[in-house]
Amino acid sequence: MPDKSHQKKILVIHGPNLNMLGKREPDIYGHQSLAEIDAQLQKRGQKLGIDVETFQSNHEGTLVDKIQQAAGTVHGVVINPAAYTHTSVAIRDALVMLDIPIIEIHLSNIHRREPFRHQSMIADIVAARVAGFGSYGYTLALEGLVELL
Ligand code: DQA
Repeated sequence: MPDKSHQKKILVIHGPNLNMLGKREPDIYGHQSLAEIDAQLQKRGQKLGIDVETFQSNHEGTLVDKIQQAAGTVHGVVINPAAYTHTSVAIRDALVMLDIPIIEIHLSNIHRREPFRHQSMIADIVAARVAGFGSYGYTLALEGLVELL
């Protein structure tokens, strides 16, 4: 077992319906499952010497709880709030309390889609945003975050 106590830790948060990736509207979100994306992130984390934790929930309050718990325990957050991107003041408020870099990621380019997806409640509080690269966007987000740390 490698000693990870000195490693930086990044939390990757996936919002509602992302547990259905692979089956869900593959034309938009691709064919990779969330488990495959998470495994890819773990692998990349190992290469970068970063401890990566992944978390998914369909519930707004559970996501808020997880974000609150991140305070003081992780060095950065990558988050795809999914549909809550466009609606959740609660998730925004929880993220604002974290004094660490946050990267917003979307598989699809939300600005090319329906007008209600153009608004992000967190766009102005994150360090950087990635959208439109499909599942590869998670790798870009992780690498970008490591660069910022
Ligand atoms: C999404 C875009 C959102 O509009 C949508 O509700 C999602 C996924 C994306 O990754 O492209 O669930 O965040």
